[in-house]
Amino acid sequence: MELILRDVEPGDLTAFFEYQLDPAANHMAAFTAKDPTDREAFDARWERVLGDSRITKQTIVVDGVVAGTVFCFPDFGDLEVSYWIDPAQWGKGIATHALQLFLAHVSTRPLYARAAKDNHGSIRVLEKCGFVKPGEDSGFADGRGEEIKECLFKLGE
Ligand SMILES: CC(C)(COP(=O)(O)OP(=O)(O)OC[C@H]1O[C@@H](n2cnc3c(N)ncnc32)[C@H](O)[C@@H]1OP(=O)(O)O)[C@@H](O)C(=O)NCCC(=O)NCCS
Repeated sequence: MELILRDVEPGDLTAFFEYQLDPAANHMAAFTAKDPTDREAFDARWERVLGDSRITKQTIVVDGVVAGTVFCFPDFGDLEVSYWIDPAQWGKGIATHALQLFLAHVSTRPLYARAAKDNHGSIRVLEKCGFVKPGEDSGFADGRGEEIKECLFKLGE
């Protein structure tokens, strides 16, 4: 399997939009769009993201095909990383490999991440990439319509 990261291109967005239509993915990620089927809101969000140089956003390409996205963005002064993989490609080590490459590309430390407490896949990806869990928090998750617990993660000092 050949996995590379490259800059996000406008032509990738339809694939990203399709990933977010997956109900299982939305449940896992939890802190997602209020209405994942709203393409206009999705496009408006990505237009902001593409125009914001403080956000590092990369497309994950596996064997020449778009397979997900990994990005980091400022959150109240902290830099926070996240990722989303094509549901058809889950369980192949793609998130772990892509995050490892991303961490070599983005040198800022500490780097932060958060995951719903029951998002075992994402938690495992973060642990495998060296993140530690300094605490927990809770917040309203639009993907579930309720307040849920989340784990906070940190990499480096
Ligand atoms: C979470 C997600 C990124 C995992 O992607 P992936 O490419 O399948 O992950 P990997 O194949 O690299 O798996 C990494 C580890 O997590 C484990 N894992 C993956 N999905 C899992 C799940 N649903 N439940 C339990 N463990 C899981 C794998 O077994 C592997 O652990 P191991 O090496 O000890 O066996 C993917 O399911 C996804 O995109 N979900 C929707 C969006 C999301 O939740 N993003 C993160 C927001 S915090």
